[in-house]
Amino acid sequence: MNTSEPRVDTHEMVLIHRVIRREFGQLPRLFRTAANDRGRSKVIGAHAREMLDFLHTHHTGEDELLFPLLRERAVLDPELMDRMDAQHEQVDNAVRAIRAELPAWTSTADAATGERMAALIDTTMPALIDHLAEEEQKLLPIVSVTLTQREWDALGKHGMSAIPLTRRLVILGHITEETDEAERTKFMQVVPAPARLAYRLLGHRQFTRETTAIRS
Ligand SMILES: [Fe+2]
Repeated sequence: MNTSEPRVDTHEMVLIHRVIRREFGQLPRLFRTAANDRGRSKVIGAHAREMLDFLHTHHTGEDELLFPLLRERAVLDPELMDRMDAQHEQVDNAVRAIRAELPAWTSTADAATGERMAALIDTTMPALIDHLAEEEQKLLPIVSVTLTQREWDALGKHGMSAIPLTRRLVILGHITEETDEAERTKFMQVVPAPARLAYRLLGHRQFTRETTAIRS
């Protein structure tokens, strides 16, 4: 490999994965503690819906804009790619099943439905965690020398454009929640200046208010 080749900084995806691990890790507890509490199920249901969409968008972005380019250009371990696909499918099936139950649960807080969704996440979490870790350890180093900056940016844009405008600042709060100073500064560079300002003025407060209510 030519060491002067430009490399794409893929660390952004690690930040996205942190959101997925953290928020899906908490969902089972949130579903269970909202049992028969319709005030809570409205709050948790909206959050769960947003996170299911976030995860779904993340995976479809990879399926459409990342994996095909890797398959075309890089020498990949076929077993690794088969595993990536299988994990995506397993997670996607769980996402679909939870999405189907979520609207009714959000309005009824039915305990049995909440338990079903919680158990489904519990059983899917190990595969999801393995998947994210393997992608970070084995795929991202290949991505960084295989994709152009423009192709990598297209993946980020795909993710961002799927988020409703009114929710982008809160999602920005999620993405930067577990970052250190350097990671935050770097990520904020890809955020348009008006959104950066809006986040400082309003978004961060809204994110804190929402997550405090969700996690209480
Ligand atoms: Fe990913």
